[in-house]
Amino acid sequence: MNKKILVTYASRAGSTAEIAEAIGKTLSQSGTKVDILPMQDVKEISSYSAVVVGSAIRGSKWLPEAMEFTRTHRAELLERRVATFTVCITLAMSNGDRYRQAVSAWIEPVRAQVRPVSEGFFAGRLDFKKLPLNFDTLKLRLTVAFGIFPKDDRRNWNAIRAWAEGLPALMQ
Ligand SMILES: Cc1cc2nc3c(=O)[nH]c(=O)nc-3n(C[C@H](O)[C@H](O)[C@H](O)COP(=O)(O)O)c2cc1C
Repeated sequence: MNKKILVTYASRAGSTAEIAEAIGKTLSQSGTKVDILPMQDVKEISSYSAVVVGSAIRGSKWLPEAMEFTRTHRAELLERRVATFTVCITLAMSNGDRYRQAVSAWIEPVRAQVRPVSEGFFAGRLDFKKLPLNFDTLKLRLTVAFGIFPKDDRRNWNAIRAWAEGLPALMQ
């Protein structure tokens, strides 16, 4: 069987895409063959032995295209080792650790589709220069103004790489 791993992601403002790149790079450095693709570019998963699926969070949910991906490929994902990663800003809050359980519950619908061998949860980036001005982003600006959500880039690259380093052992 081909031992190539697919790292695929859904991202709107790019921070999840860059995390997927970092995960893919870490996997390659451990000698694993990897493709890193946005979900819309994935034509098939039959040629991969395992799949890492990641999404940004919006409104306490994975992006719709990420949920669509797990539904579309459910049968094949169930036949493979799957790891998921989730990117949000809640985990960057000063008391973010208190919300880990709540954030974990957001991906219950993902667990209902696939059975992840590992789940990564990472703080992301809230950069208003990269976001359109609309009702949703105005609400976010308010949460930042009230000191609830932090803004800027809160990604912890060491935590991301450490999680990715543990994947090959789990995904064979
Ligand atoms: C419209 C919008 C809604 C969001 N909703 C949430 C949310 O409910 N909970 C959360 O923790 N983060 C939320 N975020 C933060 C994103 O998950 C975070 O900025 C992430 O890094 C975005 O990933 P991307 O750059 O790949 O799109 C939201 C961001 C936007 C722009």
